[in-house]
Amino acid sequence: MKISKLLVGLFACAISLGSYAQDPIVIKFSHVVANNTPKGKAADFFAQKAAELTKGKVKVEVYANSTLYKDKEEMEALQLGAVQMLAPSLAKFGPLGVKEFEVFDLPYIFDGYDDLHKVTTGPVGQQLMAKLEPKGIRGLAFWDNGFKSFSANTPIKTPDDLKGKKLRIQSSKVLEAQIRALGAMPQMMAFSEVYQALQTGVVDGTENPISNLYTQKMHEVQKHLSITEHGYLGYAVIVNKKFWDGLPADVRGQLETAMVQATRYANQIAKVENDASLDAVKKSGKTEVYMPTKEERVIFKKKLVDVHKKMESRIGKDVIDAVYKETGFNPAKM
Ligand code: LMR
Repeated sequence: MKISKLLVGLFACAISLGSYAQDPIVIKFSHVVANNTPKGKAADFFAQKAAELTKGKVKVEVYANSTLYKDKEEMEALQLGAVQMLAPSLAKFGPLGVKEFEVFDLPYIFDGYDDLHKVTTGPVGQQLMAKLEPKGIRGLAFWDNGFKSFSANTPIKTPDDLKGKKLRIQSSKVLEAQIRALGAMPQMMAFSEVYQALQTGVVDGTENPISNLYTQKMHEVQKHLSITEHGYLGYAVIVNKKFWDGLPADVRGQLETAMVQATRYANQIAKVENDASLDAVKKSGKTEVYMPTKEERVIFKKKLVDVHKKMESRIGKDVIDAVYKETGFNPAKM
């Protein structure tokens, strides 16, 4: 009797050890945008590649659309280890104390994706990522989204059209300074709250890459969209450092390969997705899309370029100069 009980016990133990050995390592990847955005698609792509390359040893659970955490909460959750992976926009690292990331928010600092990639794929990008380590965070990759345009319920041709308006921004002091330079009022707000704030008139307008505007249906509650493309919005894919360093080396290597592939994919689709979203917004007929003239663009640039100088003490002149050096940007030539 005793022996058979022992055997049953041992058998149960063997089964549970067996299943324990096969339990996948779970990576919770939380983000705030829709699945059908550049970031949403790249996160899903990474999850699929991670499963393939680790042969099921890793399961990446993607939580889109702020279903798990909102902007500020997700950073805290990552540091606490409640989630393992995020891809916050580069404008959201200030509250973490890594103000240097706000260099990406400076208006007109990148003339296009090529300029941006000189920074994100070069030494400046690496140096920025290294600043996350003391916060218990490892930066794995930069993922593109796109260039932001202003929307509101009244036409926007020149900066004066935004004067006095309440405009939603992400949690970046550079964006705050940018909105003030326009004579408008910045309202920092979590991404998940923007649609309702626009719908109810809590804010008058906002700035977005078109993929975000379209997938959150913001164009349905904004009568005008002006393709100003005055600033960049993209992401840093980050992980909890302790979790990442604690992974078996072979698994970590496979995940790094998955991340390289996902990054290539993200950066291939970003422009295509934003162009498709712009077409869809135009077709919807819900908002009027305006393309500023060359002269109107110059007026915007002249109005906003002072923000670079103003934000030197926050971002660090060395960081701004390093970006200028990579891209050849010269504020005096604006
Ligand atoms: C925003 O808050 O507007 C964006 O950062 C959302 C995102 O992740 O693209």
